[in-house]
Amino acid sequence: MRKSRLFFLGTFAAAVGCAAATTNFRPPLEAKLGAGAKTGTPVALRFDPNAKVVITRYTNLPAAPYTAAQAQRGEQVYNSTCASCHQNEKFIGKEFVDNWGDRRVGDFYQLVRQTMPVDNPGSLKDQQYLDVTAYILKANHAPATTDSLSADTTIMRGRKIGVHP
Ligand code: HEC
Repeated sequence: MRKSRLFFLGTFAAAVGCAAATTNFRPPLEAKLGAGAKTGTPVALRFDPNAKVVITRYTNLPAAPYTAAQAQRGEQVYNSTCASCHQNEKFIGKEFVDNWGDRRVGDFYQLVRQTMPVDNPGSLKDQQYLDVTAYILKANHAPATTDSLSADTTIMRGRKIGVHP
């Protein structure tokens, strides 16, 4: 199980890399099991020391939309599902902006939807993955809009993560 996930992250990076014009790689933001984690089967948090995340910027794209209500729902998803492993300072603030700013919103959404939470990938509803993405946009100072973030390809591929610290 864990092996195939590890393989997937590598494949994901490689596949996106091929399609992109300019490609850079960086090590993934680390995750630590926090005090709030539920007890249960232990999960290896650094499942692949060689895993890399593609960083390709699309500065010309307009920023991804999301509504305030979406971000509010997403905050609950983040707190109940993601915060047990991810420290806020990795996802909110300069480190996130440096790593994910100006990248296609779909890159983030797909990565999260297909690999997170690590102990049960794909276990949330699509709407929850969208909402948690909206929350992370909001937490990194992207302005809310009247249009919501949807899984529509024109948004996922045509809009960027427009954030700043
Ligand atoms: C059981 C622990 C766990 C949970 C819960 C979890 N993650 Fe992760 N996450 C990880 C691990 C482990 C990695 C890979 C980190 C590494 O290899 O350094 C990771 C990596 C990521 C990355 C890539 C980070 C980067 O930029 O390099 C994102 C984005 C992410 N997680 C988002 C989420 C979101 C959103 C949720 C909630 C829906 C979530 N994760 C829940 C453990 C978890």
